[in-house]
Amino acid sequence: MIGSATGQRIGITGLGANAPAKVMTNDELALYVDTSDEWIRERTGIRERRIALQEEALSDIALPAAREALAEAGADSSEIDLVICATITPDMLFPTSSALMADALGLRNAAAYDLLAGCTGFMYAITQAYGMLASGLSKKALVVGGDVLSKVLDWDDRSTVVLFGDGAGAVVMEPVSAGGFLGFELGADGGGGIHLCYPGSGSRHFEDPNSVLKMNGREVFRFATRVMVSSAEAVLEQCGRTIDEVDVYVPHQANKRIIDYAVGKLGIAPERTVVNVDRYGNTSSGSIPLALADARAEGRLTEGALVLMTGMGAGLTWGSALIEWGGEAL
Ligand code: ACO
Repeated sequence: MIGSATGQRIGITGLGANAPAKVMTNDELALYVDTSDEWIRERTGIRERRIALQEEALSDIALPAAREALAEAGADSSEIDLVICATITPDMLFPTSSALMADALGLRNAAAYDLLAGCTGFMYAITQAYGMLASGLSKKALVVGGDVLSKVLDWDDRSTVVLFGDGAGAVVMEPVSAGGFLGFELGADGGGGIHLCYPGSGSRHFEDPNSVLKMNGREVFRFATRVMVSSAEAVLEQCGRTIDEVDVYVPHQANKRIIDYAVGKLGIAPERTVVNVDRYGNTSSGSIPLALADARAEGRLTEGALVLMTGMGAGLTWGSALIEWGGEAL
């Protein structure tokens, strides 16, 4: 799916992020599996990640991010009419984390549902919120992306456990006076889905009683390097923009080697690229909003800045969005 924005400008007026307080370093991970700080840093660029406590679920981690985004947007609880939460690790399958969070936030007038597209979840969710807002069906939306993958990992599997961390981010989206989203590109290839899956998590029976995340790292690496480039190029072309015009590139934070590959192929300056995988690992649906929040904290999301976001993940799925940052809520 690909398209560029027409008509009413829709932008981001509030942004928040949050991660569990507990930090786990590579050396601590080496207590669980046969690995080393050196191997993890060389192959992934990750130094540490945040890990949820046993009693912490997705909504506990995402709610502070949502509150921060709502406060920045100055959104009254009665105005939010749509809550989408992108996640593959909701508190439970139902009630949805979005409905639980809407209740906790006092959003009584909102439709609320969870959306599942692996690490691309946040890209799918902002695209869908854009469609609802641009059509006039929704007036003000809260979009949350977050995951607590530490709860679904095999803590004996060194090839996956070193990659992931927990975290969440949120944005408020609404009509704006200037800037806003310029276009989106989304895709999926279920044929490759087996390379990154969570068997036993749904209605299909598997003989293996271990319901944990399974990944063929090499296949996912190949897929990731391909779509991180093709999706970004597609959305830029669709919007009539070039990579030289991009001020801030926010790639999914899966592995520094994947980011470096995409940066080289796209030809974007490394200093325009946001990288925080070293501190958070791969937080799946939380990755892009967490990176956006870091970019803002560093003063990089200036008025009118052209921001390119690209995600990829389970499904297999991918997605990009192009936005001109800023503008006032109408
Ligand atoms: N510590 C030490 N050694 C390890 C570890 C570890 N944590 N993990 C694997 N190894 C070993 C392997 O057993 C292998 O040993 P062998 O040669 O004796 O068989 C060796 O290291 C090399 O393994 P490779 O798999 O070839 O290592 P590679 O350089 O490909 O890196 C990695 C592996 C980091 C997983 C890489 O393939 C990758 O990043 N893939 C993409 C993963 C990804 O992005 N997933 C998220 C998708 S988003 C979502 O939706 C969740």
